[in-house]
Amino acid sequence: MRSLEAYFRELIAQRRAEPAEDLLGLMVQANEDGTALSDQELMASCALFLIAGHETTTNLIGNATLALLRNPGELARLRAQPDLAGSAVEEFLRYDATVAGLTRTAKEDVQLSGGTVPAGATVMAVLPAANRDPDVFTDPDRLDVGCGDMRHLGFGGGPHACIGAALARLEARIAMTALLATYPRMELAVSEPNPIIGWIIRGVTSLPVNVG
Ligand code: HEM
Repeated sequence: MRSLEAYFRELIAQRRAEPAEDLLGLMVQANEDGTALSDQELMASCALFLIAGHETTTNLIGNATLALLRNPGELARLRAQPDLAGSAVEEFLRYDATVAGLTRTAKEDVQLSGGTVPAGATVMAVLPAANRDPDVFTDPDRLDVGCGDMRHLGFGGGPHACIGAALARLEARIAMTALLATYPRMELAVSEPNPIIGWIIRGVTSLPVNVG
């Protein structure tokens, strides 16, 4: 975190000295009612963008590859019909959500599922569970690359829903299409890849494959 902070501090100083039209340049110049972002706020936003935008997409691609290799019928279907890629990405986001959970703090007492969440309490929404809700999705434990049901919560929801969703969808579609086209005989090289231990990101630490 210290070296990340030093890196962003230098970049922010550069953008202050030489205004630029890139994302950081625009954040440095942003000014609402006479208030600009402080260095602390800029650094927090930079760290958020970097981490939220990197680990998530990387693991979506890993989880999607693993799901396909474990479901050879769906892999063959996607290879035969590359135009299903957009739908397949929605299904990957539902089937094996990269973000395991997110927290919300109740501003007031909230009635939920027959109980009360008291004002000030923090609750955790477990997104992968919501994405396998049998009241919402038919046959939720089955991977179906042609289904592409966008009611999943892979990107969260409400005012804080993922700001990078469009970019993530594009990156995953391009990566999966290129991966399948480049390696027509890819198969898993281990039966149980090691899971990432933690409660925010779901994925594997590495995904060894044979590419034929
Ligand atoms: C597959 C890739 C991604 C997944 C699964 C994902 C998922 C999520 C989730 C679940 C949230 C929390 C939403 C909520 O609280 O309701 C979130 C927030 C956020 N994401 Fe993503 N994300 C991805 C890619 C990206 C990318 C590429 C970027 C930026 C380049 C990004 C930037 C952010 C930011 C800045 C927030 C915080 C938004 C806020 O608090 O208002 N994400 N993301």
